[in-house]
Amino acid sequence: MIPQKTVQEIIETAKIDDVIQDYISLKRRGVNMIGLCPFHNEKTPSFTVSPTKNIFKCFGCGMAGDSAKFLMEHESVSYPEALRFLAKKYGIEVQETQVTPEMRAEQQLEDSLYIINEYAKQYFVNTLFNTDIGKSVGLNYFKERGYREETIKKFGLGFTLETPDAFTQKAIKAGYNIELLKKLGLASQYGKDFFRNRVMFTIHNLSGKIIAFAGRIMVKNVKAPKYINSPETDIYHKSKILYGAYFAKKSIRQNDECILVEGYTDVISLHQAGIENVVASSGTSLTEGQIGLIKRFTPNIKILYDGDAAGIKAALRGLDMVLEQDMNVKVVLLPEGEDPDSYLQKVGTNSFNEYINKESKDFILFKTDLLISEVGNDPVKRAGLVKDIVMSIAKIPDPLKRSVYLKECSRLMEMDEQVLTTETNKFVSLLIRKKKQEWERKQRQERRGQPKPSDDPGFPSEYPITGGGISAPDYETPSEPSKVKKTSDEFKEKDIARILISGGSELFDKDEGISIAEFLLSNIEEILDDFDNEIYGKIVKECLSLLVNKQQISSQYFISHPNNEISQTAIDLLHTPFEFSPGWERREIFLNTQKAPELNFTEDSRSALLRFKLNKVKKVWKKNQERLKDLKSDDDFTKITKILKVQKKLSTMIEELAKELGTVVL
Ligand code: CTP
Ligand code: MN
Repeated sequence: MIPQKTVQEIIETAKIDDVIQDYISLKRRGVNMIGLCPFHNEKTPSFTVSPTKNIFKCFGCGMAGDSAKFLMEHESVSYPEALRFLAKKYGIEVQETQVTPEMRAEQQLEDSLYIINEYAKQYFVNTLFNTDIGKSVGLNYFKERGYREETIKKFGLGFTLETPDAFTQKAIKAGYNIELLKKLGLASQYGKDFFRNRVMFTIHNLSGKIIAFAGRIMVKNVKAPKYINSPETDIYHKSKILYGAYFAKKSIRQNDECILVEGYTDVISLHQAGIENVVASSGTSLTEGQIGLIKRFTPNIKILYDGDAAGIKAALRGLDMVLEQDMNVKVVLLPEGEDPDSYLQKVGTNSFNEYINKESKDFILFKTDLLISEVGNDPVKRAGLVKDIVMSIAKIPDPLKRSVYLKECSRLMEMDEQVLTTETNKFVSLLIRKKKQEWERKQRQERRGQPKPSDDPGFPSEYPITGGGISAPDYETPSEPSKVKKTSDEFKEKDIARILISGGSELFDKDEGISIAEFLLSNIEEILDDFDNEIYGKIVKECLSLLVNKQQISSQYFISHPNNEISQTAIDLLHTPFEFSPGWERREIFLNTQKAPELNFTEDSRSALLRFKLNKVKKVWKKNQERLKDLKSDDDFTKITKILKVQKKLSTMIEELAKELGTVVL
């Protein structure tokens, strides 16, 4: 662990412009510097570096952070790695605290595993290029497959001899530890070579370190498996690795798309043909970890399938997981019997590109088409089809996207859109409920002080991955990981505060020139003192005084507010992802009219206000009801009638508010 003090020192010393200029060229513009963003493809620079604030931000893709964050993203390293790199660059001594002997040993073990793998790769490459058999069998094989020498070298392709222990013996003589060779799966339990008479594929992690190997058999028609792979080790976790990712990451960012294929050879062929944004799942179905890996670079994924129908259906099932992560998925079906590599070799790069562009279909629509052609007119099968599709659509977190799909699919399936929408909403509610439970479980865990599982200690809390969850129907923003349970009134109050500071000066009514703030505040002026939550009350009152003094209500005003609690709350309100309010799951979610609040301030503020009022009125009603109960029969009769009258009036108000709310929200 790097002590916080040192982290601070590193970040302060590492001048952002200095760090970034090692990677991209920046031009001065006013107090800032700008350049072409390395994280997405752009022709006009929107990547902005602020030396005074010591941060960068791209106004095109939204990537932002300090110098360590830049390195993390650009070099695909962990946060501690980025910090250590910077410390070294600026000559800052890092005295890591709490490094137990175990941790040090673990680090040393990892280091030695990488070193041995590097040695093994050199051996395989050397055997390929510099032995007779290597040249005549291995190199010849690769060349026949159309691989150029530079490609073979770039991907670290190699060869192993038939001799049972040629590699192991050599490695031991060179001083490498046999136990570690076994651990890495390079040597068998009996000290023999694990890979024999195979062409070798080197597997890298994102930062280019060698973590594993795969060997393809040379002889046909034997019972041995076509490919054998290194076992899982401390440095090789299959479910989190995509073959080729190290060579593809730059291009994935630039193209804002990742092409996914199945095999090692597909990756290499496409890459050689200039299609560099390609990775392989290595024959297995996609895992969550692999999707997460892609998502670091792009939300767009294009999957190339070998053209055999049986495999496709199974594969489609796994893809819902990708939708859930808010990724856009396209699929391309290759002609029967071809894999990407063979088809590319057959038709050449231009036709190949043309084909995958022309044939690329949106996943949901592709799936719908495929299933329709399968079920025909069978009503039972048709019902199954609807469920299948609707479940996929429900997994998409973005309600707007969902509604677009519903429209399109209802057309394809010749079904009423409303019916599909209702069905989808059922699953959405279900999923949200599940997410909510998960979220609550996590909260409980955190409160109990248990560490959350994470690969990257210390980092995720600072840079949460956004956009992953399903949006709650109410779009309420979270507090600090709720230490205090909020009342439902507080959620409404929070809504009002959020709307005021984020869009208070937007126009509510264009014709009359009324602003959102004027509308909201004029409606709640008399209950401003009744806020349950003190801090939201303070914010709202301050908005009122700004309004009265004809000053602009802006988010910046609150972000840089001298009262630390207010500024902190404002930042929370403006920046944190949405959370779930109590009782949300009982409300229906109607897709077609539901918009993200920032898309519709007017509607949002109107309904927030109505919800707010409704709650307050309900509360008064309840209080009165209690009073009625407590009244004794010998109490003053006029008193009872008075309260009853008030209750009646309140009931009408509740009804009216609910009705109005219904027309706004639903
Ligand atoms: N695979 C594996 N083990 C096997 C078979 C396949 O790990 N016994 C993985 C490999 O990653 C392989 C991918 O599944 O690249 C796809 O398999 P396949 O289509 O059979 O191989 P290709 O990559 O097309 O290899 P080639 O073109 O050399 O036949
Ligand atoms: Mn192949």
